[in-house]
Order: sequence, then structure tokens, then C-alpha cells
Amino acid sequence: MPAQASEPETGPQRLQKVLAATGIGGRRPAEALIAAGRVTVDGVVATLGTKVDPARALIAVDGRPVRFDTRGGDAAKTTTFALHKPFGIVVTAADDRGRATVYDVVQHAMGAVPPGLRYVGRLDRDTTGLLLMTTDGALAYRLTHPRYTVEKVYEAIVDSELTDADLTRLRRGVELEDGKTAPADVARLASGVIRIAIHEGRNRQVRRMFEAVGHRVRRLRRVAVGPVRLGDLAEGAARPLTDVEERSLRHKVGLDQS
Ligand code: URA
Repeated sequence: MPAQASEPETGPQRLQKVLAATGIGGRRPAEALIAAGRVTVDGVVATLGTKVDPARALIAVDGRPVRFDTRGGDAAKTTTFALHKPFGIVVTAADDRGRATVYDVVQHAMGAVPPGLRYVGRLDRDTTGLLLMTTDGALAYRLTHPRYTVEKVYEAIVDSELTDADLTRLRRGVELEDGKTAPADVARLASGVIRIAIHEGRNRQVRRMFEAVGHRVRRLRRVAVGPVRLGDLAEGAARPLTDVEERSLRHKVGLDQS
């Protein structure tokens, strides 16, 4: 069992810490800028006690927005990588039942958990496959926002053979307790093995979709998120995104203009 990871930072954080990570030279220069009244958050002059959510706040120094998400330039260098989530691992920052989390897997795979690392959407404990993780708050926020419908592709092993009519129903959308699902791409890969591509990210959505047409998913694996493919990444391993993958992902959520 990998060591327990330190709890990652998500949500509001101290402004000086957020600012220190943007390449302005560390926490002391950040504190000096704040103390001098040169930093604003959403247009309001900040103080040393100010807390911000870097994914949402507009932070500016001397009136110029601080950028968190660029490759190069004067912004913070962020890290985005693909993780092959193993079976039985919980996608959460800290599990109240003490079970192993994705942060334990990252600690094991990379030797450390990058500060501010967050997962992009959840996979069920019993789902395996591709999980994107990033220190880029804006990217994580947009990738999980319903407005940006990034495709997620799954392979499901089901307990019984789906008919062509079942496949058609899945494609058109099925009625779930939280509403009808959007059209999906669905293909039979082999007997009892279905590939399904969806653009939403509701809780246990794929399993519930199959249940709605009378089948139980026995194994579920996510094989792609947008342009990023799981490929032959070993279970429990992580790899950085390629430049092409990262550019494409950012483009899909409108973060390529910065
Ligand atoms: N749909 C599910 O049912 N489970 C997952 O983990 C992801 C999508």
C-alpha cells in the first residue's frame, strides 16, 4: 500500500501562496506586493489575509492579470498528467474510511504529490482507467464544467448480451432519475464488450445507463478523455501529457488564448 499522501490543496488558498507559485520569486516577494497594496482580487485591493480560489479569482498585480495556466511566459508552470487508476482506489482528497486514494497512487508513481494537484472529475472506486490530474485550477474547473463537453470514452464488460435495440436506446439517450442522457456513441467491440463515448459526467452515469436498458456493468474502464488516450499506460502509473495532447485539451475548453 503506498504511503498516505498529504492532503492536496483545492478551493480557497492564501493569496501569498497562490501568488508565490506564479513565478514572481517566492512567498516573500508575494507578501511584499500584497502589503504594498499592489495586488487586487476581482478588482479589490487584497490584504495578507485574503484567500482565493485560483481557478476562479481574477488576480492582478499593478493592474495586470496574473496568469496561471500558460506554457512559458511569466506564469506558473503547471503540471498535467494522465494516471491509470487501479481498481479499488477512491477518487477523493481524503477518504473518511481510510481507504487508498488517487493521491496515494500518485505518491507511489511519482515519489511526491505536486502542490495544488487536483483530479479532473471522478471515477468510481470500482472503475479503472484514465484519470487526468492537474495543478492547473482553471483547466480542472473547465474540464468538469457542463459547458465544456469533453468526450469521455469507456469500455464496459457487461453481464449479458445487448441487443441492437439496447444499443440504439443508449445512443439516443436513456431516462435516468436525474434526467435523460445526451446522445452517445456506442459500439459493440466483442461479445459482452461495449465501447461508449459520452459528453456528460454524472455520477455513475455509464453504469446507470446500462442498468436503464437492463444490463449490469461488471468491469468499467475509461480509455480516453478528449484527445488523451490511456494507451498502454500500466495500472498505477502516471505520464505527463504530450504537448499536442495538452494544447488540444486546452483548446477544447477555451484556454488556448492566454
Ligand atoms: N460512469 C460510471 O458509471 N462510473 C465511472 O466511474 C465513470 C463513469
